Amino acid sequence: MKKKRILTGDRPTGRLHIGHYFGSLKKRVEMQESGEYDPYILIADVQALTDNFNHPEKVRNNVREVAMDYLSVGIDPKKTTIYIQSMIPEVAELTVFYSNLVTIARLQRNPTVKTEIEQKKDLFGESVTYGFLGYPVSQAADITAFEGELIPVGEDQLPLIEQCREIVRKFNRIYGEVLTEPEAVLSSGKRIKGLDGNEKMGKSLGNAIYLSDSEEEITKKVMSAVTDPNRIRKDDLGNPNICMVAYYHNLFSSKEEAKTVCEECKAGKRGCVPCKKQLAKNIVNELKPIREKRAYYELHPEEVDKILIEGTKKAQKVAQETIKKVKQAMKLDYFG
Ligand code: TRP
Repeated sequence: MKKKRILTGDRPTGRLHIGHYFGSLKKRVEMQESGEYDPYILIADVQALTDNFNHPEKVRNNVREVAMDYLSVGIDPKKTTIYIQSMIPEVAELTVFYSNLVTIARLQRNPTVKTEIEQKKDLFGESVTYGFLGYPVSQAADITAFEGELIPVGEDQLPLIEQCREIVRKFNRIYGEVLTEPEAVLSSGKRIKGLDGNEKMGKSLGNAIYLSDSEEEITKKVMSAVTDPNRIRKDDLGNPNICMVAYYHNLFSSKEEAKTVCEECKAGKRGCVPCKKQLAKNIVNELKPIREKRAYYELHPEEVDKILIEGTKKAQKVAQETIKKVKQAMKLDYFG
């Protein structure tokens, strides 16, 4: 039986952090290892430019960083095709074709786009760019160019997949059954809060632990994590429910260890400093294999490039097949 094609991707606007790891990367590796799928991962540099058009060097530099993050968590280029979005011109062509099938009002109503425009007020002010407003259309092109069937996403991305499905149905209705309608799969990953307690971990918030962080960086960040503000002395009774150190102990320490930590904190028997040191040690240990693998690729950038070149070449072939069918259906197949 033909393996179902999975399509996922990330905007290369920064290195990936443990939020990405628990939220999506772990799941991608699991799906890859199950052997049941044909996974593609795109490094969405064109999409990254929609809100970073004024920082081309940032996007450029992060393409390789993100690739190294993928490889270091266990994305295996023999099983998963990793490619660079801008190297697939067919995606840009499809975006133009699909833009006739979407109204501006529909894009403006897309909850994902709406939220993001709100978050990016500093960049866009009162008027958003055509490119940013239209990024769901280009994401539909990403998915359909590869006949993506399953799209593992976080809840916040669901409206993008829904919009892609609408575009596919409309295209197929007008031009004929050519495109594959994708299905979203909720990646059951956890959403991890930042070190400062913010709901979202992110670079702009300065509250993230990166997969590439050194032992020292991890320790320094953990030492600065937000704890129960009412706890000033060690024998003050603590409330682990409002302590980020306790929160991370629950993610990175053994069950018993996390339980002991919380009980001792509540009883005023545990100081925050040793508690943080213990947590830092556990995070450092858990991320060690990832860090070591990454260090290898940092020393061998030519291997990373080779993986990207090969993945991209393979992806180009697939997209060329799709665009052929699309152009035929749209009566744009001039000169045979
Ligand atoms: N929008 C996704 C993100 O910001 C990245 C992305 C681009 C993507 N194209 C995609 C995800 C296609 C899944 C399928 O993380």
